[in-house]
Amino acid sequence: MEVPCVHVRREEGESARRALAEDDLVDREFEIVVSEGELYIPVVDPAAVPDGFEVVRREVPAREPQRMPADLLGFEPTYERLGDVVILDEDDPERAREIADAIAASDLRAETVVNRASKVKGELRVREWDVLAGNGTETVHREYGFEYLLDIATVYFSPRLATERHRVAEQVEAGERAFDMFAGVGPFVVPFAARGAEVVGVDLNAAAVEYLRENARRNGVEERVTAIRGDAREVASDYADWADRIVMNLPHSADEFLDAAVEAAGDDCVVHYYDIQHEDDPFGPGEAAIGAAAEPTYEVDVLTRRVVRSYAPHELNVCLDVRLSRR
Ligand SMILES: C[S@@+](CC[C@H](N)C(=O)[O-])C[C@H]1O[C@@H](n2cnc3c(N)ncnc32)[C@H](O)[C@@H]1O
Repeated sequence: MEVPCVHVRREEGESARRALAEDDLVDREFEIVVSEGELYIPVVDPAAVPDGFEVVRREVPAREPQRMPADLLGFEPTYERLGDVVILDEDDPERAREIADAIAASDLRAETVVNRASKVKGELRVREWDVLAGNGTETVHREYGFEYLLDIATVYFSPRLATERHRVAEQVEAGERAFDMFAGVGPFVVPFAARGAEVVGVDLNAAAVEYLRENARRNGVEERVTAIRGDAREVASDYADWADRIVMNLPHSADEFLDAAVEAAGDDCVVHYYDIQHEDDPFGPGEAAIGAAAEPTYEVDVLTRRVVRSYAPHELNVCLDVRLSRR
C-alpha cells in the first residue's frame, strides 16, 4: 500500500526514527523499508513532520502483528525466561504441552520450552525438567549488564534473585576480598569482581564451577576471580582470616556453614546470610545462629534484615547483612 514516508539516508535512519517516534509520528501499521541505502519510515501525519525531513509517498508492506502465546491459547500463560529457555511451572502435563506448543508457534523468541519436573533438590540444588520444545537446556542469560552461560539441567540458577544480587553487589568496593561459599555459575562473583574486588567462588558442583570460570572470562573479570570446586567448609580453612565480605546463599542449610564462614572472616567482615524461615520469626533463628558462631571473638552488628521473596505459604526467603568486627 502507498503511504506517506519520511525518506532519509540509512546512516540517519535511527536518529530520524527516534525523533519521529518521540512525536508519535511513526505509523506502526506499516514496515520501515530499506532500499538502496535509503530508509523509508511510514508516518501517520505528514503535515506534522518537522521541517528538514523529506516526505514522499511509497509502497510499503503492512506489518504482521506479533503473535503472542496468549493470542493462540485464549488465556495468558505464566512463564519465566532464562536466556532463550522458557520455563513453565504446570502441574498438568496436558496444559504444559498446550502452552509449549503455543509458545513454539508464536513470535516469542524461545529456543527451548521446559516444564518443572521436580523441586530443586539435593546438595547441588538442581531440578529435573521435562523438555517440551527444542532440546538444549544450555543458554546465555543476561542480568544487570553481565552474561551467564549455564545449563539449567546441571546447575542451580534463579533469575528471580537478580534484584537481590544487584543490591548486594552495589555494596562492594574496589580492592576488597570477597568469598562466595556457594557461588553457582557466578552471579555474585562476576559483578563483585567487576567492581574491583578480588573474589573467591566455591561450589561443590563441578559443572557450576566450569561455568563460573567461563562466565568470569566472558565478562572480562577472570584476573580477579578464583573458582574452586569443593566443599565450602574445607576451602574456608585455606582462606582463614581473609575475607572482607562473605556470601552464604544456601538458604536451607547455611547455618551449618557458619563456623567455616567465621574462620574465613577477616578482622572486619560483612556476611550476607540467606535463610528460609517461618514468617512469624524470619530473622531470629539466623541471628541466633550467627551470634553463636561468631561471639565472643567478633562483635556482631545486624546491618539489614531483608525479606527477599516469599518462598512457600508462610515461609520467607530472607537475607541478613551482618558486620563481624573482631574484638
Ligand atoms: C542456592 S544455590 C546458589 C548459587 C548462586 N549463589 C546463585 O545465586 O545462583 C547453592 C549452591 O551451593 C552449592 N553447594 C551446596 N553445598 C555446598 C558445599 N558444601 N560447598 C560448596 N558449595 C555447595 C550448590 O551446588 C549450589 O550451586
